[in-house]
Amino acid sequence: MTTLDLSPDELLTTTRTVRKRLDLEKPVPLELIRECIEIALQAPSGSNRQTWHFVVVTDPDLRAGLADLWRQGGEKYLARVGSPEDATGMIGRVLGGLFHLRDHLHEVPVHVIPCIQGRTDGKSAFVQASKWGSIIPATWSFMLAARARGLGTVWTTFHLAREQEAAELLGIPYDEVMQAALIPVAFTLGTDFKPAVRAPLDSMVHWDRW
Ligand SMILES: Cc1cc2nc3c(=O)[nH]c(=O)nc-3n(C[C@H](O)[C@H](O)[C@H](O)COP(=O)(O)O)c2cc1C
Repeated sequence: MTTLDLSPDELLTTTRTVRKRLDLEKPVPLELIRECIEIALQAPSGSNRQTWHFVVVTDPDLRAGLADLWRQGGEKYLARVGSPEDATGMIGRVLGGLFHLRDHLHEVPVHVIPCIQGRTDGKSAFVQASKWGSIIPATWSFMLAARARGLGTVWTTFHLAREQEAAELLGIPYDEVMQAALIPVAFTLGTDFKPAVRAPLDSMVHWDRW
């Protein structure tokens, strides 16, 4: 059952990356996670094969283990971008959120890892696109359904630099299944989120020709 009264356009334009406004104290009923996954299962997948899996992690030790791998995976990137204190404006805000999540990821009550059957290591762009395109829409649907229920999410990929260790930690059969992301999920502190500033549409749209 949804809790927020959002139009489709409002839902699509205000499902933000939530890092600082995740409520680390409030438990998330697993029934809500089930509802969001139920909705995600309506997403398209190549040949409608639906070879997806959602690993929902709530065990504190496992979340701590995942958070460690996430931090290790993001280490190089985080070292390169500098610290939030050195940056201003939008970059400063993003970095502030990023460092906050780094310090608190283990406290986020639910981690969801969307996975897809099969590995594409070294495969063609066609094979890659078909595979990733079969898990990404479902994952985004999950995040939209979460937002409609007052939950905040973040699409993250840092832990994938340690994907094999994460697979061992969670018992995911690494040789047969790829992890697409790690989505921290918690209730949001407040529910008001705004559309973000993006580059102008005309810099990206091509009519008939590039
Ligand atoms: C493919 C992908 C990978 C991402 N990886 C990370 C990540 O590892 N850690 C993180 O904190 N945010 C990550 N993000 C979140 C982006 O930084 C975020 O979506 C972007 O800043 C836009 O935020 P907004 O939707 O609130 O405007 C990732 C997003 C995408 C789509």
